[in-house]
Amino acid sequence: MDKLVIRGGKPLKGEVRISGAKNAALPIMASTILAHGEHTIERVPHLRDVMTMGRLLANLGAGFHFEDNKTILDCSKINNFEAPYDLVKTMRASVLVLCPLVARFGRAKVSLPGGCAIGARPINLHLMGLEKMGAKIQLESGYVIAKANRLKGASIYLDTITVTGTENLIMAAVLAKGTTILENAAREPEVVDLANCLIAMGAKISGAGDSVIEIEGVDELKPINNYRIIPDRIETGTFMATAGITGGDLVLKDCKPEHLDAVIMKLKDAGVVFKETKKGLRVIGPERLTARDAKTIPYPGFPTDMQAQFMAMMTVANGTSVIKETVFENRFMHVAELKRMGADISIEGGTATIKGVEKLKGAPVMATDLRASASLVVAALCAEGETVIHRIYHLDRGYEKMDEKLRHVGADIERITS
Ligand code: EPZ
Repeated sequence: MDKLVIRGGKPLKGEVRISGAKNAALPIMASTILAHGEHTIERVPHLRDVMTMGRLLANLGAGFHFEDNKTILDCSKINNFEAPYDLVKTMRASVLVLCPLVARFGRAKVSLPGGCAIGARPINLHLMGLEKMGAKIQLESGYVIAKANRLKGASIYLDTITVTGTENLIMAAVLAKGTTILENAAREPEVVDLANCLIAMGAKISGAGDSVIEIEGVDELKPINNYRIIPDRIETGTFMATAGITGGDLVLKDCKPEHLDAVIMKLKDAGVVFKETKKGLRVIGPERLTARDAKTIPYPGFPTDMQAQFMAMMTVANGTSVIKETVFENRFMHVAELKRMGADISIEGGTATIKGVEKLKGAPVMATDLRASASLVVAALCAEGETVIHRIYHLDRGYEKMDEKLRHVGADIERITS
């Protein structure tokens, strides 16, 4: 398994180009199931999860080609409706093929994703909505088996705000007979990007980005042509964290700052300076960060996917920071690893208290999940001495060429491929 060796202490300086958003690419790739013909999608990041989704779609009988951040998908010849456990267990987002398969072909057999490092992450709301739209749902030896002649429009209230649940049900509704109303829907930019792509395919969707989304079903959709994915707001936030913690000066190109209002406000409070320039968003880190509290909530609040990276910054800030994780029940796996580097963190349920220390010390640490691994990179970039981060396949799931991008702005970072 590959590992990263980082020698910290250097302020990062230079330009970073932000890649396409993983969490927009995955639902949009799954949505190609909904229309006969060849789809082309641009600015698709070259990531493990994207390749897994491509493999999953190919497994269903789709044609999948990926080159230079462009993917070509042809779902005209889908002849298999099963997403097997060995694929779903490596990527929960595989569940996003469930509703498009039922919407277009009237059937699907998808492995239940099972838990993951950050929590139980059930899909009960995906299934509740699908059932309300007339699907017959059976659970059999770890699989969801769903059948429907033609889904029909329904009014669905989502008890918990769920991103992929909202995305799945939008994809169920676009070909249903009648109108569907989704209430308490997720408002993430990735949901909006999926909706915009589906509208370009001929779907009738209004309200994406608000908490009530209305979808009027149509009989057929047409393939998407050169749809360009939005930039990855969490990669953007992660590079902001690297500039903030190293006292660096980065220009982030191709990003959308408007997708990160809560993160930018929090980092400004902590002493990071932002300047819009012609080349992109300039991010300047202070001599020393000021400790600030944070609480993760669904978009447009402070994102749970930035919690670990923000915590890494707070480990060396001046003062004490209290971070509350309200979205997932176990998203503090990075804490033990940060403490190995000298961080002073205590946890009480979903709340972490971080007392800023002068310096972190490099150490061998282990990545446990995607954003935890990102937080270890952020911490290692300012730590004194050498940090070795093991199991960085977690990082490769969601960050395109992160070590190359960091080296390009002066980080002393090396990937050891075993
Ligand atoms: C999406 O996961 C993202 N993944 C996650 O990003 C992100 O952390 C999460 O949304 C929250 O923003 C993708 O978009 C592929 P949820 P998702 O359904 O949709 C509960 C990353 O780092 N829930 O919004 O799986 C659930 O247990 C990944 O890129 C139910 O109870 O998350 C959780 O507590 C990690 N029943 C809360 O809702 C359901 O049916 C939010 O989960 C569905 C969800």
